[in-house]
Amino acid sequence: MKPLKTKSEVRDFCRSVRDSGKSLGLVPTMGALHRGHLEIVRRSLSENDTTLVSIFVNPTQFNNAQDLEKYPRTLEGDLAKLREVGGDLRVFAPEVSEMYGDAVSSRAYDFKGLDQVMEGAFREGHFNGVGTIVEALLRLVGPDRAYFGEKDYQQLQIIRKLVEIRDIPVEIVGCPIVREVDGLAMSSRNGRLTKRLREEAPFIYRTLEEAKRRFGTKSAGKVKEFVEGVFGAHPDFELEYIEIAGDRDLKPVLRKSRHKKYRAFLAAYLGGVRLIDNLALN
Ligand code: PAJ
Repeated sequence: MKPLKTKSEVRDFCRSVRDSGKSLGLVPTMGALHRGHLEIVRRSLSENDTTLVSIFVNPTQFNNAQDLEKYPRTLEGDLAKLREVGGDLRVFAPEVSEMYGDAVSSRAYDFKGLDQVMEGAFREGHFNGVGTIVEALLRLVGPDRAYFGEKDYQQLQIIRKLVEIRDIPVEIVGCPIVREVDGLAMSSRNGRLTKRLREEAPFIYRTLEEAKRRFGTKSAGKVKEFVEGVFGAHPDFELEYIEIAGDRDLKPVLRKSRHKKYRAFLAAYLGGVRLIDNLALN
């Protein structure tokens, strides 16, 4: 499977898919593929005749130059994993200049407050970068459906908002978080943990599960205090945020409403590696 490298190759490919009356799914990724990504690819393959997986480490969504530099680039291994999945799929793996030309910059979006909390509050400009590349990919490919994981739950809601405000005709499909057997959400960053810290990492999911249990009877404030307390007492973690917010509007909950669905979101550093996770609470 030879990856498509240019926009013009992608246009030709997508035109031929459409001309033959086939449906097309798009799975945007930054590569370093793991089972979380591959589950999304399988979902797209099951719901569309053809699937295009993009592999592109998008520079404009990194607010930290070192993080961008350290991001794993493993195209050959990724292609091998996708070959193993099989099915009617192609890969688009462009260079930065192909996507951005000389101007590596992002558009400023108004995501109606969705980007003001959590990841948006701690990663300046991140969602403008995500919006810029996802809009470019959606307009280039014109898929029937595009697939995103709930691992980046805020990103998923922002992309739903993006297609609404930019009037892009595509169905956005959210896919459940894929976890390791011990509960740790799969991430390309997990590989950066030392063996010892990798063993500590499931603490995140365990704490979210306990938060969910407490949310049944306690206020959101009390549940957040509990999470802050246990992370504060842990010698290896540094909690960046814990938030409990509405699952669509991402508004931090002040007082629980019985009719609303809530999720807990957290980001924490473990030995300098930034990990995020989230869990539905009700
Ligand atoms: P990346 O981190 O490579 O993730 C690609 C897709 O896989 C995203 O939709 C992400 O939410 C999903 N994903 C990652 N780990 C997952 C897991 N454990 N379970 C379920 N889904 C998981 O997210 C990005 O890339 C970029 O921001 C991108 C959307 C490609 C734009 O550059």
